Amino acid sequence: MSDINDKKILIKDVNVFYGTKQALFDIDLHILSQQVTAFIGPSGCGKSTFLRCLNKMNDMIDNCVVKGSIKIDNDEINAKHVDPVALRMKVGMVFQKPNPFPKSIFENVAYGLKIHGLCNNKAEMEEIVISSLEKVGLFNEIKDRLHDSALGLSGGQQQRLCIARTIAIDPEIILMDEPCSALDPIATARIESLIEELSIKYTIVIVTHSMQQAARVSDNTAFFHMGKIVEFGKTSSIFSNPKDKRTEDYITGRIG
Ligand SMILES: Nc1ncnc2c1ncn2[C@@H]1O[C@H](COP(=O)(O)OP(=O)(O)OP(=O)(O)O)[C@@H](O)[C@H]1O
Ligand SMILES: [Mg+2]
Repeated sequence: MSDINDKKILIKDVNVFYGTKQALFDIDLHILSQQVTAFIGPSGCGKSTFLRCLNKMNDMIDNCVVKGSIKIDNDEINAKHVDPVALRMKVGMVFQKPNPFPKSIFENVAYGLKIHGLCNNKAEMEEIVISSLEKVGLFNEIKDRLHDSALGLSGGQQQRLCIARTIAIDPEIILMDEPCSALDPIATARIESLIEELSIKYTIVIVTHSMQQAARVSDNTAFFHMGKIVEFGKTSSIFSNPKDKRTEDYITGRIG
């Protein structure tokens, strides 16, 4: 486990292409350990593309080529020998639309534990499922429905279930791509306070379209514009004292 202020992820000279079209240009960035880093910027500027670089999800897109260096705990993840499945256990991901499997609530959280063979016995699995549901504040709400379909949960509950499913396999980094965009303000507030709690243990990277959300939940913010990072720094200074005109225009609502 790394210390606070450690660079958990170190990104150097990353360029990403979809076929002949370049989506990201010369990205240099670091992600600090056990902090929340927000990616903001206008639609199409490359936030999701870059987020997917951090757990090699772009490998699953046919014409996508990632160049450059991404080190997690000093290990190069773009090296040939890196097993993407093992990497994704360490770097979990939560998506925009809650995507529970059409299985029971219990099975959803147990799924990763089973496929990776992480439990020695049933009792251990139950313990991890329950503690994961407790960590996302869902257990008390659904403890009588553990074996009912996850699809019967509300949108906000489904998103917390997806976060429970992610943390059950004990990752170190959690990537979230607009995790609240399908949720109402109350469900959003619950996810935001959960992000704050989780950042004590996990390194979190969140893509968000909401300036208010970035300002509320993140320690650091990177502003993307047309495939480049224009500005990166402490969230408080990016929002109170942006150095680049494009950042200022975006956070004040003049572009986007
Ligand atoms: N599978 C793909 N094939 C070809 N081009 C793609 C693909 N996915 C994304 N792109 C292009 O790459 C660029 C960056 O897209 P990306 O989805 O990363 O942007 P974004 O910042 O996440 O946008 P949004 O805020 O709308 O989610 C866009 O021009 C997009 O059209
Ligand atoms: Mg996106």
